[in-house]
Amino acid sequence: MAHRKLVPGDLIIATHNEGKLREITALLGPYGMTPVSAGQLNLPEPDETGTSFVENALIKARAAVSATGTVALADDSGLCVKALGDAPGVYTADWAEKSWFEGGPGRDWYMAMGKVEGKLAEHGPDVDRSASFHSTLALVWPDGHEEVFAGSVPGTLVWPPRGDRGFGYDPVFMIDGETRTFGQMDPAEKQEIDHRADAFAKLVGAVF
Ligand code: IMP
Repeated sequence: MAHRKLVPGDLIIATHNEGKLREITALLGPYGMTPVSAGQLNLPEPDETGTSFVENALIKARAAVSATGTVALADDSGLCVKALGDAPGVYTADWAEKSWFEGGPGRDWYMAMGKVEGKLAEHGPDVDRSASFHSTLALVWPDGHEEVFAGSVPGTLVWPPRGDRGFGYDPVFMIDGETRTFGQMDPAEKQEIDHRADAFAKLVGAVF
């Protein structure tokens, strides 16, 4: 099936996540789009009730299109840890959610990274520490046309966390071929090689 081209103009970035917004805005830079985020428009965050990255990306993009009547781009992403059966996967953000006795509501990424490490530790000191980051980008137009692109990058989990740059699980993820975590890299360098860049390269090839 032929892909639909994205013409320069308004584009809603269906996210309330500042880290994702920074990366997606930078990736879109050369393509003449005018991005505005769901967060900036105070749109409500839809419940991510899907069981896959594709379903959740579509839920977010469709919600933004319904609210604005403008073409929308959403990212659903997460960390898949091999020894944990690919958890936390689509529940990556949920693992950071603080319960009431942890001072919630709200998200704590250090707590989430600690949870992953705690579960890995249950498998003993020789556990396979390989993991991958995944991103699915969904583009939805007001007439219902949809395009979906998936990207991923392989890596290893380090402990303790290293670096204070980036967002989310960046301080524990070391992409294959690197000695620094994403949290230690210049964000401009990370966003050119990460899972969103991989998905975005496929999007660019299809819709621009
Ligand atoms: P969701 O796509 O809104 O379900 O959230 C995915 C979660 O995965 C984010 O909130 C981050 O914690 C994590 N995540 C996704 N991409 C990255 C990344 O590039 N670096 C670090 N963490 C990420």
